[in-house]
Amino acid sequence: MNDINNIKLNDGVVVPMLGYGTGTAVRLSGKEESIDFIKMAYSEAKLSHLDCAQRYFNEESIAVAMRDLGIKRDDVFITTKTEDGETPLKSLKKSLMLEEIGLGKAWEMMEQLQRERKTRSIGVSNYRIADLEETLKTAKARRTDDSDTRFVVPSVNQIEVHPYVFEKAKPLIDYCHKKGIAIASYAALASIVRHPGGPVDQVVKDIAKELGMTEDQVLLKWAHQVTYGGIVITTSLKKERLQGQVKAFSHMPDLSDAHVQAIIHAGKKLHYRRFAGHMDS
Ligand SMILES: NC(=O)c1ccc[n+]([C@@H]2O[C@H](COP(=O)([O-])OP(=O)(O)OC[C@H]3O[C@@H](n4cnc5c(N)ncnc54)[C@H](OP(=O)(O)O)[C@@H]3O)[C@@H](O)[C@H]2O)c1
Repeated sequence: MNDINNIKLNDGVVVPMLGYGTGTAVRLSGKEESIDFIKMAYSEAKLSHLDCAQRYFNEESIAVAMRDLGIKRDDVFITTKTEDGETPLKSLKKSLMLEEIGLGKAWEMMEQLQRERKTRSIGVSNYRIADLEETLKTAKARRTDDSDTRFVVPSVNQIEVHPYVFEKAKPLIDYCHKKGIAIASYAALASIVRHPGGPVDQVVKDIAKELGMTEDQVLLKWAHQVTYGGIVITTSLKKERLQGQVKAFSHMPDLSDAHVQAIIHAGKKLHYRRFAGHMDS
């Protein structure tokens, strides 16, 4: 599929560990320009896992980029997100111009889509333990009523993971691991981009220097490792940076336990969450 290591989800689907987040690409560059960034990420950085969402209004950008580059459906893994409800799902299929779509929330409908083979994997985003328990309970109850209905455990929970949110997220990460739900981390570079000057900075700098890595490479690998080898969704408008990040996953060894723990320890000194405030409740 590409140079990046893959992980296998609980439904057997294989996903590249590192995904290109197109939400930020659109926010920073605009819808039209984001098509070029998506093409750059795919062609020059070899990122074949593309993350989008209805909320970012950019599924079409992915579809256009794929069409322009002549990318076959099987050559990419697309994650997308919809809010609850049937209408968004219908428009999603139309805007993506694709047979298969990615993540979603309306669980029963998502299970139906998977049964109809309209999507490979189904998962959730920003789900807390309580939300997952509720989803799993509902799915189980339906199974007893209708023997045709398969009980599907979400394959992924996409959540914010970085050193300043890790302590709060850890019970959820462990819960997902126990249930076989892979974590897809976003905002892994928050300590550099969104909250610079915090207690993690020097620790990450020192590790990067020691290992001959860049700070973003260290933080992305860290997010992957603290989520039991999970998916990491990041983004960049810079080709060289993306290529470096891909290299961190394809050619660089994991951080040592001591390095992982040093970042965890420093991160505990500050709590900062950028997205989905309900995750702290
Ligand atoms: N499910 C959800 O609720 C949710 C929420 C938020 C995001 N997401 C997804 O996750 C994706 C990534 O989110 P994110 O933007 O928060 O990811 P991130 O990986 O934390 O940050 C990416 C940003 O970091 C910058 N960057 C990278 N290395 C840097 C360095 N060494 N120094 C300074 N800046 C650096 C990049 O800018 P350059 O262009 O300069 O490299 C880019 O703007 C989004 O696009 C979206 O697809 C999902």
